[in-house]
Amino acid sequence: AVTHVHQFVIQEASVKRLCKTQHVMTVNGMYPGPTLEIKNGDTLSVKVINKGKYNVTIHWHGVRQMRTGWADGPEFVTQCPIRPGGSYTYRFTVRGQEGTLWWHAHSSWLRATVYGALLIQPREGTNFPFAKPDRQSTLLLGEWWNANPVDVVREATRTGAAPNISDAYTINGQPGDLYNCSTQDTVVVPISSGETNLLRVVNSAMNQPLFFTIANHKFTVVGADASYVKPFTTSVLMLGPGQTTDVLISGDQPAGRYFMAARAYQSAQNAPFDNTTTTAILEYKSAACSSANPIMPRLPAFNDTPTVTAFSTSFRSRERALVPAQIDESLFFTVGLGLNNCPPNFNASQQCQGPNGTRFTASMNNVSFSLPSNFSLLQAHIQGIRGVFTSDFPAAPPRVFDYTGNVSRSLWQPATGTKLYRLKYGSRVQVVLQDTSIVTPENHPIHLHGYDFYIIAEGFGNYNPKTDSSKFNLVDPPLRNTAAVPVGGWAVIRFVADNPGVWLMHCHLDVHITWGLAMAFLVEDGVGKLEAIEPPPEDLPICS
Ligand code: C2O
Repeated sequence: AVTHVHQFVIQEASVKRLCKTQHVMTVNGMYPGPTLEIKNGDTLSVKVINKGKYNVTIHWHGVRQMRTGWADGPEFVTQCPIRPGGSYTYRFTVRGQEGTLWWHAHSSWLRATVYGALLIQPREGTNFPFAKPDRQSTLLLGEWWNANPVDVVREATRTGAAPNISDAYTINGQPGDLYNCSTQDTVVVPISSGETNLLRVVNSAMNQPLFFTIANHKFTVVGADASYVKPFTTSVLMLGPGQTTDVLISGDQPAGRYFMAARAYQSAQNAPFDNTTTTAILEYKSAACSSANPIMPRLPAFNDTPTVTAFSTSFRSRERALVPAQIDESLFFTVGLGLNNCPPNFNASQQCQGPNGTRFTASMNNVSFSLPSNFSLLQAHIQGIRGVFTSDFPAAPPRVFDYTGNVSRSLWQPATGTKLYRLKYGSRVQVVLQDTSIVTPENHPIHLHGYDFYIIAEGFGNYNPKTDSSKFNLVDPPLRNTAAVPVGGWAVIRFVADNPGVWLMHCHLDVHITWGLAMAFLVEDGVGKLEAIEPPPEDLPICS
């Protein structure tokens, strides 16, 4: 195994998209940031130097961080932010994960431009569990604003309204042919006749689940979230923000140029969304000089939930899964939005511009998560600092109601708190994630830090413990780090709490985490050194 040493300088750069120049944060001046490529078993050592004007942290999305929780990255959860002028070295080893993960800023909305791919090739001396692809290409789907994204979220926080929708989607940072001033920079993905290309697709968009397809080509899905799956074919993918999907495509079509395209899967009702389409070009090498217009694929309608369900229920783990058959912790978490009244001291002309003069909010089990500011949660836990968090996150919602029905307005207002749920080392955990129809039902990509979990079932309506447990797949359910909870429905996940530390679980639609759709698990140390979190690195940033 090898140690890869990198330096990430966080710095402002001018980026021109859609005919306009924006000043945005980048890593090493690059948008998107650098692609890191390692093998399963390798170690990464990334020194992050903050030369920008905002506090920043970097999260290694999906990396399990076994006993190295100090390197996970979410600000005020596992570390205090790296201040302007400061630096911090993230050091961790990737074990047992192969495929595609990614990294992104985990402060404010900086991840809109501060993100990149983390490619994990098979362990030294081993191969893919499928024929070796002739080529590999990475496709990062993103979202672009004609504004500084940090200003977009600050404005929304100030007014209580929903933030402005994005102005474009992007593939590897480029909007593509269907947008103004973009054609000359459209991303081109090469392929040769007869060859197989492994496409590593990442949804790094801020707030939008996306469909992805390529004209006239079929995908063979082989992996997701850095775990292999039983291969299946499909012509369209749907990825929630945070999710990755590895697919094989064959150069089996007439040599030519074909558009690949992504656009919104929008499950929230009556909410404005960016209804544009980003494209890149799949180009056969022998057709590289062709001037013919690329062939355009057909994408599903923006609200095509049946296509999403057919896709998400096709995933099976490649090997027999190690899903716990018995559970020690049976948890039920609602995930959904809410509305709060305006505090009395608000300037009404500028603030509380949500529906009917309210502010948007969001919660799990009616707790709207708020981050501390004086210590990170992990530091408070390890050093026994009191008053930073409480350990009373509820195992079930405070009231049982018809979650996906017509919810009484009296249940729309969550309470704010910094509540953690404590887990004993090694406990076997099941969480039912239940969407609510408060404000609107919506497909929520729920991401858990520090773990992969099995998704053992999903469905629509209210989860019914009596009948729905018969649908559990305990044989070969997919192993993921982000579950797209069906709109107006539920998903059941299981994991073994074998990684001590404090681990955030949240909706990966950034607007929802801004509104509080998050909680954190505190996983206690077990017995002995190998069941305890490592000591904090010496350069760990502190808050004051
Ligand atoms: Cu990719 Cu907490 O996030």
